[in-house]
Amino acid sequence: MTTTDQTRLSEALAAIEAAQTIDAIEAQRVAALGKSGWVSLALKTLGAMSPEERQVEGPRIQAMRASVADAIEAKKAALESAALDARLASEVIDLTLPAPEWPRGSIHPVSQVMDELAEIFADMGFSVASGPEIEDDWHNFTALNMPESHPARAMHDTFYFPDQGPEVAGSPTKMVLRTHTSPVQIRSMVQQGAPLRVIAPGRVYRSDSDATHTPMFHQVEGLVIDEGIHLGHLKWTLETFLKAFFERDDIVLRLRPSYFPFTEPSVEVDVGWEDVGGRRVLGGDGDAPGHGWMELLGSGMVNRRVLEFAGLDPDRWQGFAFGVGVDRLAMLKYGMDDLRAFFDGDGRWLAHYGFDPLDVPTLSAGVGAKA
Ligand code: DAH
Repeated sequence: MTTTDQTRLSEALAAIEAAQTIDAIEAQRVAALGKSGWVSLALKTLGAMSPEERQVEGPRIQAMRASVADAIEAKKAALESAALDARLASEVIDLTLPAPEWPRGSIHPVSQVMDELAEIFADMGFSVASGPEIEDDWHNFTALNMPESHPARAMHDTFYFPDQGPEVAGSPTKMVLRTHTSPVQIRSMVQQGAPLRVIAPGRVYRSDSDATHTPMFHQVEGLVIDEGIHLGHLKWTLETFLKAFFERDDIVLRLRPSYFPFTEPSVEVDVGWEDVGGRRVLGGDGDAPGHGWMELLGSGMVNRRVLEFAGLDPDRWQGFAFGVGVDRLAMLKYGMDDLRAFFDGDGRWLAHYGFDPLDVPTLSAGVGAKA
């Protein structure tokens, strides 16, 4: 071994050992093993040697190459593990620290009330049905016994789709934003036949806007079809529903004759309230002193013509139906007075009136959320 090589090797090994960065090691690698590094140049001299010389020099130079390469490898590994140790030390996670608070959403009062309705009616054997919000004229009006030019149509302030003028009103393909959840009655009867017990909560649309009307609002429809159904079933069902919903045993109903094209007879249902410090609280006989009646919902026995439109034999099947505003139910139960706030998307309003997502309404615990 030449002394130059020997010196170079010990210098290189010392430099590698002293290196503090991967870059510094890389510089040593290039200086020794790179294309014109001193080890590579030494290897190139082998070609010009005699076989005897090569037999001695070959293994010697290869051994130098190997010891430089091994030293680089070892130092690299040492630096990397030191870097990892340093990172682990600086990124220690203290598992005993309290977790940062996550902003938690809440359930909108409309969703809460719909869940409460589903729970109450499920207990009476109702399932939940739904239908499209973009509805055709036939389901929204005609099949509900509101033929074209029927005066009741005018009461609905309908949003018509623009590409179809009023000249095609009454045609099954003319589309509207449904003005009520009643078309789901038709869809349920057509799809499921009789007997039937469904509620259909959902969005409805009318061209109307003030403190108590918004262009989009929510209704829930109820429909029972069976043999021998009469008004007594309707009254009991509504009474049972309202007592469970308002969580009061003293809910008193007053049924007044009314008119809806899809029911015959039709009844408007009022609920008795009591004046409690200037606030109307539902409960008690509306005729008692300090009490009054509040109109709450429309209902009646399903009109024979509606049963026929839906393909049912009206001599065999009877039924009752009702429709009520979900937003109104929420306002009455949870004491809100401006309907528009429901749809403003104001997080502060939701934080105040919203409900805990984990607090699922159940009949046994009382459907009312523990606000
Ligand atoms: N669809 C009616 C409305 O939006 C409400 C209604 C009244 C629904 C009587 C019914 C009913 O099912 O029987 O004004």
